[in-house]
Amino acid sequence: MAKVIHEYFENKDGLLYVDGVSALKLAKEFDTPLYVMSERRIRDNFRCLSETLTKHYSKVRIYYSAKANTSLSVLKILLSEGSCVDAVSPGEVYLALKAGFPSEKILFTGTSVRDDELRFLVETNVTINVDSLSQLKRLLKFHVPDLVSVRVNPEVGAGHHEHVVTGGKASKFGIWQGDVVEAYRLAKKVGVKKFGIQMHIGSGNLTVEPYLEAMEKQLQIAGHVKNELGVDFEFIDIGGGVGVPYRPEEKPLDIDEFAERILELFKNKTREYELGEPWIYLEPGRFIVCDAVVLLTAVNTVKVTPFKKFVGVDAGFNTLIRPAMYGSYHPIVVANKLNEPEKDIYDVAGPLCESGDILARDRKLPKIEEGDLLAVLNAGAYGFSMSSQYNSRPRCAEVLVKDGEYALVRERETLETLLERQTLPPWLK
Ligand SMILES: Cc1ncc(COP(=O)(O)O)c(C=O)c1O
Repeated sequence: MAKVIHEYFENKDGLLYVDGVSALKLAKEFDTPLYVMSERRIRDNFRCLSETLTKHYSKVRIYYSAKANTSLSVLKILLSEGSCVDAVSPGEVYLALKAGFPSEKILFTGTSVRDDELRFLVETNVTINVDSLSQLKRLLKFHVPDLVSVRVNPEVGAGHHEHVVTGGKASKFGIWQGDVVEAYRLAKKVGVKKFGIQMHIGSGNLTVEPYLEAMEKQLQIAGHVKNELGVDFEFIDIGGGVGVPYRPEEKPLDIDEFAERILELFKNKTREYELGEPWIYLEPGRFIVCDAVVLLTAVNTVKVTPFKKFVGVDAGFNTLIRPAMYGSYHPIVVANKLNEPEKDIYDVAGPLCESGDILARDRKLPKIEEGDLLAVLNAGAYGFSMSSQYNSRPRCAEVLVKDGEYALVRERETLETLLERQTLPPWLK
């Protein structure tokens, strides 16, 4: 029997329900591919992390990492939970402001940032976390912020794939230890009064050890900066990256243990380096939204060759790129056959003209027929936000579900959308 992985996704007589709403009904009403998001799960994930952390230390702030899922509804839900936002582009700052976040709740952590983007950040008055000496110098030429934060590379990286490891020797992110003091010195010299220090080691971590190792380094650097320049830190930001299990054999990170161990280290080291009692910031993305969303995709083709059985669906890597980009595994269930035995092995293939457009390889599923509805689970992080119009396929829609109610929160693009913003030069008209 197919398992449905948690209480938000129920199995009612073999049919998938998302927080009380039939997946089949949603697919019929809004067509597929379709992202379906559970509001309750997003709220519960946020509360779980926030409440567990504040049990151990009161000065904790969560900066939801918008890149994981920038749906306005998701941002609004998290605003109402008391979250702040970690933005990595002017676009994410813009969306967070539109969702109602005040600028003081937005932290910008960009890399390879242009001058006009820096001006936009200054105009919108968000906190800037600089990624390079170059960025800092260019910023200070036209503006002296009240607070400057510096992203350090703690020489430790971790993550589920090399593309998402963001610390260590090969990483383009952050400032190396040797330049960190110089960064704060420059800022202090021109009159910056308040300081933060940030790191982000990578994404999809299911153990606490890489955090502990990186935090030791980050706090040591903070202690050194304090010693050299006498600056105090308003906050110490340890980034995001808290993982979520995707494969059946993976175990979730124990959030109680995670909170206890990182905050124990934090308290010990801030005491040791005489850093006072700064805020600790975390920037989780995946942990908040990943398992709150399913991607519904309809089966249009079953193709059997002497070597393989292919299930052709209407979502490809234009809709969910993680399997193609990172080799990621997503659990898949057949939304209309949850009680049927999994007895055949299939490759689940998207509609793109690319051999790499495979959502799942060698997956054991119930016997599939055309017209079945598949649900790709754990699709809420880096799902829609990484989607594209590749192969000239309009992007899909998103629906938000809350305790049996539902609403379309992003319209499906149409063929006309493909022409938007295109113009022809006079000689081709
Ligand atoms: C600076 C920064 N913070 C936070 C995150 C969130 O990571 P995750 O979704 O794994 O929590 C990312 C993602 O790569 C990031 O680049």
